[in-house]
Amino acid sequence: MTERTLVLVKPDGVERKLVGEVVVRIERKGLDLVALEMRTVDRELAAQHYAEHDGKPFFSSLLEFITSGPVVAAVVEGPRAIAAFRQLAGGTDPVEKAAPGSIRGDFGLETQSNLVHGSDSPESAAREIKLWFPSL
Ligand code: CMP
Repeated sequence: MTERTLVLVKPDGVERKLVGEVVVRIERKGLDLVALEMRTVDRELAAQHYAEHDGKPFFSSLLEFITSGPVVAAVVEGPRAIAAFRQLAGGTDPVEKAAPGSIRGDFGLETQSNLVHGSDSPESAAREIKLWFPSL
C-alpha cells in the first residue's frame, strides 16, 4: 500500500552534513521524495510536532534541540513508506537500538541528537504532513 511519511533531518544531521547521505538512502531504497525543504523551526511548530511528548522529562530539551538550527523536512512516499523509513533510520537510541547499517546505527551516538525523525504511524504521518506541508 502506498503511504506518505514525514521525514526530518534534525539540526545535528544538517550540521554534520548528512542531508545528502539521508536523501541517498531514501532514494536507494526506492522511496519517492514528494517535498523537500530546509526550515528553521520556531517553538510553536516544534511543540506541535512533538505534542505527544509534552510532559516527558526530555520535552523542553527536545524543543531547544529541534529549534537550535535548520532542519530539512521531507515528505516521502512509497509502499509501506512509514515502516520503510523507520527501518532506514534505525531505533531511537542510536547505540542500544539502531542496528549498524541504519542511519542512526551508522552515524549516531545520542538518543536526543539522533539525526532523523520519521512518522511512527499513519495517524502521525497525516498529522505531521499537514503541520509541515499544509498545501500537500
Ligand atoms: P524522534 O523519533 O524524533 O521522536 C521523539 C524524539 O525525542 C526522539 O526522536 C529523540 O530525539 C527524543 N527522545 C526520545 N527519547 C528520549 C530520551 N529518553 N531522552 C532524550 N531525548 C529523547
